[in-house]
Amino acid sequence: MKKILSVKDLSVNFETYKAEVQAVRKVSFDLHEEETLAIVGESGSGKSVTAQSIMRLIPMPPGKFVSGSIEFNGEDLIEKSEKQMESIRGKEIGMIFQDPMTSLNPTMTIGKQIAEGLIKHQNMSKKEAHLRGVELLKLVGIPNPEKRIKQYPHEFSGGMRQRAMIAIALACNPKILIADEPTTALDVTIQAQILDLMKGLQKETGTAIILITHDLGVVANAAHRVAVMYGGKIVETGSVDEIFYNPRHPYTWGLLGSMPKLDNHDEELKAIPGSPPDLSDPPQGCPFAARCPYAMKACSTQMPEYFELSETQKTACWLLDERAPKVEPPEFVNVGGLKVNG
Ligand SMILES: Nc1ncnc2c1ncn2[C@@H]1O[C@H](COP(=O)(O)OP(=O)(O)OP(=O)(O)O)[C@@H](O)[C@H]1O
Ligand SMILES: [Mg+2]
Repeated sequence: MKKILSVKDLSVNFETYKAEVQAVRKVSFDLHEEETLAIVGESGSGKSVTAQSIMRLIPMPPGKFVSGSIEFNGEDLIEKSEKQMESIRGKEIGMIFQDPMTSLNPTMTIGKQIAEGLIKHQNMSKKEAHLRGVELLKLVGIPNPEKRIKQYPHEFSGGMRQRAMIAIALACNPKILIADEPTTALDVTIQAQILDLMKGLQKETGTAIILITHDLGVVANAAHRVAVMYGGKIVETGSVDEIFYNPRHPYTWGLLGSMPKLDNHDEELKAIPGSPPDLSDPPQGCPFAARCPYAMKACSTQMPEYFELSETQKTACWLLDERAPKVEPPEFVNVGGLKVNG
């Protein structure tokens, strides 16, 4: 599949009153057409900052790009002016957020908000945009679209608002959809419906998706590839099968161990002890070393390189060095009844 986005060595800092926070540290990944890449990791690991960097939504200051490039259509998005970004956002790259209320405009009807992009980017007339809006609402499964399109966000339920936001994000057939915790605030049934909707739309339109989530169940169900972030870095990346069935980074083991399993509801979840590093003074070595039960001397002094385990799997862990002792994943890392690629 054709590569459409290439993030290379991206580092983003925030200048705060106390210190400079290194939120994203030398992150690299590619995204291909028709592919869903999940970005997972604990709170504060840099997932949203990575996503917002692509959309150039990082407030600057306090934020700044310290290094790297974000290549889209052969051009570096970091070099784009705000004006140039306005014609990329919404048209080429769409984004949906956890809480639609923060991105939907409460004073505008849903119809107007869908029409905005269509009028601006697709040169549609108001009437054409309205008709397309009705179609889009139907597409995302909102009943009575002719009536609903004239309503305001507060007249929609949470799940419907999420659908409306997807309709807005997809209105101009973007090549990339970035979804930051798109279903976290929704109950499980609606969550599943929204994910199915995104999968279905992806099949139809070929849109590539970057899906940010805490929920490994969502990853197993919806992603093709996974990037595991910790302390501002991608510590492991691989196909969804590799990450679930052959994880090699102890942090990935920890994440999998803290996931509820479908076949065993009684089993205690194993939270990873300790807390993430202070990104205003990040450790020299592996960010996970302080919490890693297998950490060796080198781990806290030197950032491990990426070991290429397959064409798709890359893991930054010194345990993979030939000189390191052989360590097997703990027994609790067993995906149990989870259906990967379900
Ligand atoms: N505007 C900002 N000013 C200062 N620091 C920020 C700002 N935005 C993000 N950060 C810091 O950057 C780091 C990464 O944050 P980010 O929001 O990307 O985490 P995340 O992985 O998305 O977490 P969550 O799962 O909670 O959404 C955090 O330490 C956060 O405090
Ligand atoms: Mg976030």
